[in-house]
Amino acid sequence: MQNLTEANLSNAVIAAMAGGQDARFKTIMTSLIKHLHSFIQESNLTEAEWFTGIQFLTSVGQKCDEKRQEFILLSDTLGATTMKDILNNRKPPGVTEYTILGPFHRAEAPELPLSANMADGFPGEPVVMRGRVLSPNGSPIPNARLDVWQSDAEGFYDLQLPDVKGMALRGIFHTDPRGQYDFRTIKPSCYPIPDDGPVGQMLKAMGRHPYRPAHIHFIVSAEGYQAVTTELYVSEDPYLNSDAVFGVRESLVVSFVQHETNEDAVQLGVPVPFFTVDYDFVLEPA
Ligand code: BEZ
Ligand code: FE
Repeated sequence: MQNLTEANLSNAVIAAMAGGQDARFKTIMTSLIKHLHSFIQESNLTEAEWFTGIQFLTSVGQKCDEKRQEFILLSDTLGATTMKDILNNRKPPGVTEYTILGPFHRAEAPELPLSANMADGFPGEPVVMRGRVLSPNGSPIPNARLDVWQSDAEGFYDLQLPDVKGMALRGIFHTDPRGQYDFRTIKPSCYPIPDDGPVGQMLKAMGRHPYRPAHIHFIVSAEGYQAVTTELYVSEDPYLNSDAVFGVRESLVVSFVQHETNEDAVQLGVPVPFFTVDYDFVLEPA
């Protein structure tokens, strides 16, 4: 393996893994080496550009700590996360689509009764969110679990709000015997993904903004069904077609219907004006 050339270098690097034991690892690394070499050739990468790339990846690593995962943010903003998600979460038509989990999910959110307000104490436009969890044939799924989280009206999650101790703007609900759920919250806002690090600089250099359209996150699960990680997006949001992390799917865009009448508000126990969102989740059998 000497005097390697542009034509045989890739094969030589791949052949050097012959002693590796893990077949899947070797498959992944073979593909990575091929694509990495092609990328360098195709872009005619210069010495200076190679070193800029090394410095960029170094700063991505240096930005990571137990609260901040800049590499996942890089994957998200390059569409790699969504490509992986699409590949790993193919669903038949009619089943609720998967989309990006994001960094703000927290295990062990508070269990809340149906109709509870998961945004208690947060200013914002009141929302009543309701619907059912169904199997693909339309039968209701009782006791399905909805793990829900969202930003406040300014686009911040509880983890980003120094004055919030413990968990807020999140909760776990279970459907009733008819497969129905409902809860109160506030209308979420669009927000920028964390852009004070190297990924933010990359977005600027690409001429991109860091915003995600307003959404509410869900993980919906039930015994005998595949859990789905998903988000519902506010239909009139200006960033629906330019999500910084490429997560929007048309089937997940929902109307927040505005209500002005006192009568409805009293019945639902919310002040006017308020919004309702009706959405049925459909789970795929396990
Ligand atoms: C989110 O929706 O919470 C999110 C997703 C990807 C990156 C940053 C935030
Ligand atoms: Fe989010």
